[in-house]
Amino acid sequence: MNKAIVLTGITTTGTPHLGNYVGAIRPAIAASKEASVLPFYFLADYHALIKCQEPARVQQSSFEIAATWLALGLDTDNAVFYRQSDVPEIMELTWILTCVASKGLMNRAHAYKAAVADNEHTGENDPDKGITMGLFSYPVLMAADILMFKANKVPVGKDQIQHIEMARDIAARFNHIYGSHFVLPEAVIEEHGATLTGLDGRKMSKSYQNTIPLFEPEKKLRKLINKIVTNSLLPGEPKTTEGCTLFSIYQAFASPDEVAQMRENYAHGMGWGDMKKILFEYLNDHLAPARERYEALLQRPEHIEEQLQEGAKKARAVSVPFLQEIRKSVGIHRISS
Ligand code: TRP
Repeated sequence: MNKAIVLTGITTTGTPHLGNYVGAIRPAIAASKEASVLPFYFLADYHALIKCQEPARVQQSSFEIAATWLALGLDTDNAVFYRQSDVPEIMELTWILTCVASKGLMNRAHAYKAAVADNEHTGENDPDKGITMGLFSYPVLMAADILMFKANKVPVGKDQIQHIEMARDIAARFNHIYGSHFVLPEAVIEEHGATLTGLDGRKMSKSYQNTIPLFEPEKKLRKLINKIVTNSLLPGEPKTTEGCTLFSIYQAFASPDEVAQMRENYAHGMGWGDMKKILFEYLNDHLAPARERYEALLQRPEHIEEQLQEGAKKARAVSVPFLQEIRKSVGIHRISS
């Protein structure tokens, strides 16, 4: 059977939160157990340098994200789970692709355009002020991540679709010049993933600082849930579930029957205090076993490192020969008779 290669990267700049979990991690881990899929999941630590120049944070985040995925039961027999920086061929491929990627294409990247627009709004004379080459050319690095492993499908958030299209564009251009070496990837928007709202009612996101970390200890989890903003309806007054953060989080974890029951409770006027208590208990029960594994893993960094090295070995079994093929195709190889 020809397995579909599914590849995705996680930038190592933060601590995973509930939104990351239901939107990306949970569906990715479920996919890691499917026999028809060969997953490549990696810690995008070179991507982290674009956004974060705090070495300790980049390091700590790699460690926490690796522990999170392992604690949640990622099947590392089937999935190739590695750290980008352990596969140096990706960086070599990045340069080769940089030399076929058109600059005009990069000019149109959303992340770069947003940074320029910010400068223009603040009345800066130099539209490129504070913008590094890392930010500008990061779609090429991402293309190398993807094309190196001949990924067929790339699960990403909507904000990343453009980058997958750029990877296709770069691959097609390379294939046109040097012969057909790369597979054109497709973006997949996670259908089973849910978007959660955060503490303040906006989308749960690191950039809004409104997140609930996935493995927050019990006491802190209770506190955060108590902080979730609700409207001012009193107990006994009927409530709607639309736009309710408490409900959106509950729904992302509970069964359809439980969700239907909860809708009735809302209609019958359940109070916010009671709902917060139920949500806390539900989440806590659901997350406690994985949280225990997570905490145990954090005590054993050498075990995490071992898993990552195993993953890197599997990844390099692909990347080393493939880079050799690519170098040869562009005319970079030893002189032979
Ligand atoms: N840039 C992606 C993000 O910010 C992370 C990422 C890096 C990625 N390389 C990738 C995702 C390759 C998919 C494929 O979310």
